[in-house]
Amino acid sequence: MAKIKILGNQQLRLSGTVKISGAKNAVLPAIAASLLTKEAIYLHNIPLVKDVFTILTLMRGLGAEYSLEKESLTIQTRSILSDEASYEHVRAMRASILVLGPLLARHGKAIVALPGGCAIGSRPIDLHIHGLEKMGASISLEHGYIHAHAKKLHGAEIEFEKKTVGGTENLVMAASLARGETILRNCSLEPEVVNLCQLLVKMGAKIEGIGEETMRIKGVDDLGGADHEIIPDRIEAGTFLVVGALNQGEITLEGVQPEHLTTVIEKLRFSGTEILADPQRDNVVKVKGSAEIKPQDVTTSPYPGFPTDMQAQFTVLMTQAEGTSIITETIFDRRFSHVNELLRLGANIEVFQDKAIVKGKTPLSGAEVIASDLRASASLVLAGLIASGETVINDVEHLDRGYEKIEEKLKSLGAQIERIKNEEIS
Ligand code: EPZ
Repeated sequence: MAKIKILGNQQLRLSGTVKISGAKNAVLPAIAASLLTKEAIYLHNIPLVKDVFTILTLMRGLGAEYSLEKESLTIQTRSILSDEASYEHVRAMRASILVLGPLLARHGKAIVALPGGCAIGSRPIDLHIHGLEKMGASISLEHGYIHAHAKKLHGAEIEFEKKTVGGTENLVMAASLARGETILRNCSLEPEVVNLCQLLVKMGAKIEGIGEETMRIKGVDDLGGADHEIIPDRIEAGTFLVVGALNQGEITLEGVQPEHLTTVIEKLRFSGTEILADPQRDNVVKVKGSAEIKPQDVTTSPYPGFPTDMQAQFTVLMTQAEGTSIITETIFDRRFSHVNELLRLGANIEVFQDKAIVKGKTPLSGAEVIASDLRASASLVLAGLIASGETVINDVEHLDRGYEKIEEKLKSLGAQIERIKNEEIS
């Protein structure tokens, strides 16, 4: 497993410009959506992250052909050669479940490994399954696999008992080719869901209420090809905004859609961070940290609330605040795995059920730590940047799932950070 080594500085002084990559959580459903048509789909602003290569391997196994030129992907599935998403793929990436809806809609059959739990909680997919059953699919669970069949899906009225990003995405894709109208209520409003729906409409889907809690989808017989831009990754952008909040210099982020980050920007500004959109250039934001960081209580919630995917990163900032902050995680049942590692770096955090009580300001000192999931890994990088001395982060493959060349982007800002490849590890 690869490691990242950081020589931190409690008075962080980074400066320069970073380009934010395309959104992992937008490109994964968009790639799955390409199963819905025999024609070619062209996707631009692709993030070159591990999860993209994982889903492309899965897609090739299903019969897709693709070519990736820099950040542009052409993908086409002329015919479905297999309808199985193996445990190997699902274990590597839970988002593999997003092929379930499209396979059922296009092909009438899907065998998808049941995703297990993961470092951030149990993460069932009951809402996906109930919705597809209402649309006429017969689904059984055998030996850890979902066996789903549907001669032809039909429209249905479905209300999600809780907001689910993947569930909304799976069902809106399935409904696009179902016979009749499907009404989805209590849909997730995340920008990634909107970006997917915009792609589906370009492919010929009939969707009303995009970006609203109720969507109406009139199924069509066929969907066609499309050319589509993936939105910037708001969580990578948010992560770099926290770098800026911890930093005494000024950094510039290109490719940021601030409207996707309003609650994060608001919380950072309340804590004293200076965040300014560049008046001359779209999607460019400058960020500068303050010498005194004010504590902020945060509760994660579905979009447009404070994103759970920013919880670990914001927690690191709160370790440097002058006072106590309460971080409440409402989306996942075990998303504090970063806390034990932050304690090793000198943080003062106590976890009680769904809350992390963060006491600051605590100077951090470098140590060897272990990454456990994607966003926990990001929080350890942030902590390493401001810890005195050397921090070594193990198992950084987690980080590579969702951040494109993060150490190169940080190094370009002046951070003392390097990746230690396996063969170099003494
Ligand atoms: C998506 O995961 C994102 N992943 C996650 O980002 C993100 O944290 C999450 O949405 C936020 O809601 C992708 O888009 C690939 P959910 P998803 O279905 O779709 C429960 C990252 O770091 N639930 O919205 O799997 C579930 O257990 C990742 O980039 C059910 O109970 O999340 C959770 O508590 C991590 N039954 C809550 O709903 C279901 O059928 C939200 O899950 C589905 C979900």
